[in-house]
Amino acid sequence: MIKMGSVSFSFWIWWILAITHMLPSMIQIIEARIPESPLQCNQTLCTLYNTYGRWGDRKDCYALNATYPTTEEELRAAVSYAVKHNLKAKVVTRFSHTMPKLACPDQAVQSSFVISTEHYNLQIQIDTANAVVTVDAGVSLRQLIDALEVAGFSLVVSPYWEGITIGGLISTGAHGSSWWGKGGSVHDHVVGLSIVVPASKSEGYAKILRLDEQNPLFNAAKVSLGVLGAISKVTLRVEPSFKRSITYNFTSDVGLEDLYVDHANKYEFADITWYPSQHTAIYRYDSRVPLNTSGNAVFDFIGFQDNPTLIPEAVRASETLLERTRDAHGKCSTAAATLAYRKLTANGLKNDGILFTGYPVIGYQSKMQASGSCLNSQSLHTSCPWDPRIKGLFFFETTPILPASLFRDFVFDVKKLRDLNPQSFCGADNYNGIFLRYIKGSDAYLGQSEDSIVIDFNYYRAKDALTPRLNQDIWEELEQMAFFKYGAKPHWGKNRNIAFLGVDKKFPNYNKFIEAKQQLDPQNVFSSNWSDEILFGKELEKSDGCALEGLCICSEHRHCSPQNNYYCSQGLVYKDAWVCRYSTTVPPS
Ligand SMILES: Cc1cc2nc3c(=O)[nH]c(=O)nc-3n(C[C@H](O)[C@H](O)[C@H](O)COP(=O)(O)OP(=O)(O)OC[C@H]3O[C@@H](n4cnc5c(N)ncnc54)[C@H](O)[C@@H]3O)c2cc1C
Ligand SMILES: *[C@@H]1O[C@H](CO)[C@@H](O)[C@H](O)[C@H]1NC(C)=O
Ligand SMILES: *[C@@H]1O[C@H](CO)[C@@H](O)[C@H](O)[C@H]1NC(C)=O
Ligand SMILES: *[C@@H]1O[C@H](CO)[C@@H](O)[C@H](O)[C@H]1NC(C)=O
Ligand SMILES: *[C@@H]1O[C@H](CO)[C@@H](O)[C@H](O)[C@H]1NC(C)=O
Ligand SMILES: *[C@@H]1O[C@H](CO)[C@@H](O)[C@H](O)[C@H]1NC(C)=O
Repeated sequence: MIKMGSVSFSFWIWWILAITHMLPSMIQIIEARIPESPLQCNQTLCTLYNTYGRWGDRKDCYALNATYPTTEEELRAAVSYAVKHNLKAKVVTRFSHTMPKLACPDQAVQSSFVISTEHYNLQIQIDTANAVVTVDAGVSLRQLIDALEVAGFSLVVSPYWEGITIGGLISTGAHGSSWWGKGGSVHDHVVGLSIVVPASKSEGYAKILRLDEQNPLFNAAKVSLGVLGAISKVTLRVEPSFKRSITYNFTSDVGLEDLYVDHANKYEFADITWYPSQHTAIYRYDSRVPLNTSGNAVFDFIGFQDNPTLIPEAVRASETLLERTRDAHGKCSTAAATLAYRKLTANGLKNDGILFTGYPVIGYQSKMQASGSCLNSQSLHTSCPWDPRIKGLFFFETTPILPASLFRDFVFDVKKLRDLNPQSFCGADNYNGIFLRYIKGSDAYLGQSEDSIVIDFNYYRAKDALTPRLNQDIWEELEQMAFFKYGAKPHWGKNRNIAFLGVDKKFPNYNKFIEAKQQLDPQNVFSSNWSDEILFGKELEKSDGCALEGLCICSEHRHCSPQNNYYCSQGLVYKDAWVCRYSTTVPPS
């Protein structure tokens, strides 16, 4: 009875939420709750947050001082200042959307300095004859897309979220989805960049290097995690404006392992959202169409919409309740409702810019490629669902990248794990399920060496670091299976710390990257012990509960949460995995 009650309760919450979606238009504009700047300074100290307000290890990161250049010369002067004063420096952006602590300056606060590109976003130079655009590194993705549109050009691929800077997004290898042409990674469309690196006293302590495709340092600088220097300008190849036609096919996940290659070959902007607990795959049929095709649609992805804060707060409250009551069945009801809601709203596709009225949905590339309406919140009562100032969504995001050839076996393993207990996957299916995108092999030393599939899943993270989550053993097994059985490479801008273990062995040109780093920044001005942890994939000392937050792989029960009945246990399908599993009896250590 009680169980049934909670199921229908959570189910109804979701439907009420769907209806209250109409609310924003009714709420008066009082004051906008746009995302807060991630860099907060007072007289003594600056604190850098990420967009979720909390880093992987939940420890804040600080710098003594910050500067806000607006021109390339001011950026050079900022680097010069840091080098001259023996400071450790990091470039930070107005978004700070990267999950790993790459942008954190050194833990020694007294000698740490941050250079913000928040106001370094003035120049966007479009060379129409050569179809390239050169931008200041702090220009946002949306700013660039809009400027190109006006000039009759399109950026062919981009991440799906527009609240990021061009400097920041290439630094972590951010991507959209495509196996056509140069592929889905933005850095593979970069044809030149300028970077400010430390220099000798006689050179003024900092100099600007202009790198093009012929320069041997170019492949290091395209994806550089911010550790080579401060990128000032980025030049990207663009194409004449085009439109896109999108249809989502919500269908069975049978045969997914055989369909993913053809799917990407057939549709230029293909992707797949897989809901294992629902036995459903959503194939995105997404192709370029001529400009004169009729249609003026917008893709306002539901996950990035400007929701009344009531919605993510209610979703979070019900998710926390289901966690606390260990109600896997309830989680599956909300997962089913999520899927139904996505189908109803076509994921946020809007034929006329307002409503979804049917497939195919056709619109300009500039309106279809990336979204983030919550960035321009119109009201104090709306925000991004994860805004740390509300009691909204809080989650982990695991993003392994697999060579396409290994993906088939990975799918079989996931299905094996799912078939043992489909309900155990509902946690991720309350978010994006297992989201699959395509990127091509790249020359970037820290990019992918072959055509790959990016695998992405989100799941509940508790407010308290020592609180385990329902079926977390499944997420940990998937994580370890991807990274250690299949040797997946981590997305540098996402993931928990353990995803980076042994990363130095995974990239064939890793050593060339390290050589470039030694050449450009021999004093490690742009490195910190936080970014070293990630770049060198160091294993940290294990502490109580460390496996709960992905800071270690458990080897003793205390790394999990024996007080909550979570014990270090062997993987179910991948036997080399060690995960925190709920059990009412203590398993042998
Ligand atoms: C809601 C959301 C959606 C996302 N969607 C996608 C997606 O669809 N696809 C995808 O691939 N990723 C996605 N990401 C991840 C995101 O694209 C990356 O984390 C990206 O790097 C963030 O860019 P940023 O401008 O916020 O940079 P930051 O996070 O501030 O910085 C990233 C790194 O780059 C360095 N850096 C920044 N600017 C410079 C510069 N000028 N010179 C030198 N170093 C610099 C910083 O020091 C840091 O190391 C998403 C993230 C979120 C939160
Ligand atoms: C500055 O911010 C830090 C970190 O939030 C805080 O500990 C400190 O008290 C603040 N100092 C002043 C003078 O406000
Ligand atoms: C902060 O950095 C600027 C250089 O950008 C420098 O001029 C200023 O003196 C620094 N302030 C402190 C308190 O170190
Ligand atoms: C990071 O460096 C600081 C000082 O440079 C040091 O105190 C701290 O122990 C280091 N932390 C790690 C994890 O290496
Ligand atoms: C959807 O995908 C399935 C599986 O590939 C296929 O059989 C079906 O024809 C597709 N539906 C549409 C409308 O394309
Ligand atoms: C679009 O333009 C092409 C020529 O550029 C023409 O052949 C085609 O008929 C046009 N289509 C529509 C729908 O107007």
